[in-house]
Amino acid sequence: MSDLPTAPGMAASLCALHDVGTCRSCPHLSAPLTAQLARKQARVTRLLADGANPVPPRAWEEPAASAPERFRNKAKMVVSGTAAEPLLGILGPGGRGVDLRSCPLHVPQVAAALPVLAHTITELGLTPYDVSARRGELKYLLVTASPDGDLMVRFVLRSRRHVAALRAALPDLQRRLPTLAVLSANIQPVHQAIIEGPEEIVLTEEDRLLMRLQLPEPPGAAVGGVQEGMARRRMRELPLFVPTRSFFQTNTAIAEQLYATARDWADAAPGAAVGRERLVWDLFCGVGGFALTLAGPGRRVLGVEVSASAIDGARAAARLMRLPEGAVRIEAGDASVLDPGAGAVPDLLVVNPPRRGIGAELAARIEASGVERVLYSSCNPVSLASDLERMPSLRAGRARLFDMFPHTDHAEVLVDLRRDRMTHPNRH
Ligand SMILES: C[S@@+](CC[C@H](N)C(=O)[O-])C[C@H]1O[C@@H](n2cnc3c(N)ncnc32)[C@H](O)[C@@H]1O
Repeated sequence: MSDLPTAPGMAASLCALHDVGTCRSCPHLSAPLTAQLARKQARVTRLLADGANPVPPRAWEEPAASAPERFRNKAKMVVSGTAAEPLLGILGPGGRGVDLRSCPLHVPQVAAALPVLAHTITELGLTPYDVSARRGELKYLLVTASPDGDLMVRFVLRSRRHVAALRAALPDLQRRLPTLAVLSANIQPVHQAIIEGPEEIVLTEEDRLLMRLQLPEPPGAAVGGVQEGMARRRMRELPLFVPTRSFFQTNTAIAEQLYATARDWADAAPGAAVGRERLVWDLFCGVGGFALTLAGPGRRVLGVEVSASAIDGARAAARLMRLPEGAVRIEAGDASVLDPGAGAVPDLLVVNPPRRGIGAELAARIEASGVERVLYSSCNPVSLASDLERMPSLRAGRARLFDMFPHTDHAEVLVDLRRDRMTHPNRH
């Protein structure tokens, strides 16, 4: 349970399952979002100020606040119960299924799709997988919605037994879910905690979801009224393709703010708009959120990613954006062993690693390289603090917290690092 104060006069939170203690996914749901965010900011500020390469408290900009509900663009539902009465949600204490179709965090398109999909499970007689008995076929239902309301639905099955039936059900599903863009069966034959298996059988023509993000332009580019606060922010579209088995940020509105902040900070670099073409590397680039946001006149961007499907998505989005030849290159590779100091040194390095951080090897190479500027986007302030410690000559000038997962302690942070030659005056 949260130790944060609840809103005055608030008898119930947004979620009845939270209030009765059946679902504990949102420990701070009963507290006002402003109090949650203030505490999250204080905790992250303290943690990163205490490190050996500290982020000074004055570096923090205003945090990016999320909507309190309807912000999750994806549902990862464990399927339990029976085919006749499936439960879509989580496994509670003792492996008991808890139905989370009413979860207030899902965007409306996901919330509306779940009952339809439960109905399909019943019609097709898809028996939910029983973890303790190791019997049954349907393990998870994974649903993602784009900002336009298009849906990607993936059935994680133990075998291919029901794939033909699922294929036959497609026209009916498309009738009931007219925005269904991608339907697939993921085969996960192994009894293990990893949700997805390596085999994906796509049943629709489309095998990836188009996410058309809207990034706010810098305040100077505002249009409309002249009075303070009246001007409308101009938006720029960032089209990203999300294939079936690749990472995408969970909170679309916060992802838009994250990419826009990285772009604004990169644009504000000294000499950014003049002179020669700047070289930008985006390591752990996924489907290309940072790489494609930063692509533009005067910049040549290289994205590096390990997931083949994410690479395909990023390349397809670059084509869709009709970027000039060579403006963005997305390459397959292990970013954790790259050496940014080996060849043409990038003017700007963006890193957005998984929770474990960039690790000792890459941190040491960045520290020893001539890279002047690093934007580190982290989903784990603890591994971020360790990585900063390994790069003592890169000092944080700016930082911002992004509330990607409200109601939890999860913190997403962007830090703007610049090389401090006083720390290591003999370098480059
Ligand atoms: C936190 S996600 C960030 C993705 C992307 N920057 C975005 O905003 O959507 C981390 C990404 O790193 C990729 N990844 C994990 N280990 C990697 C490695 N050793 N080398 C390259 N990419 C890796 C994952 O496949 C995933 O796409």
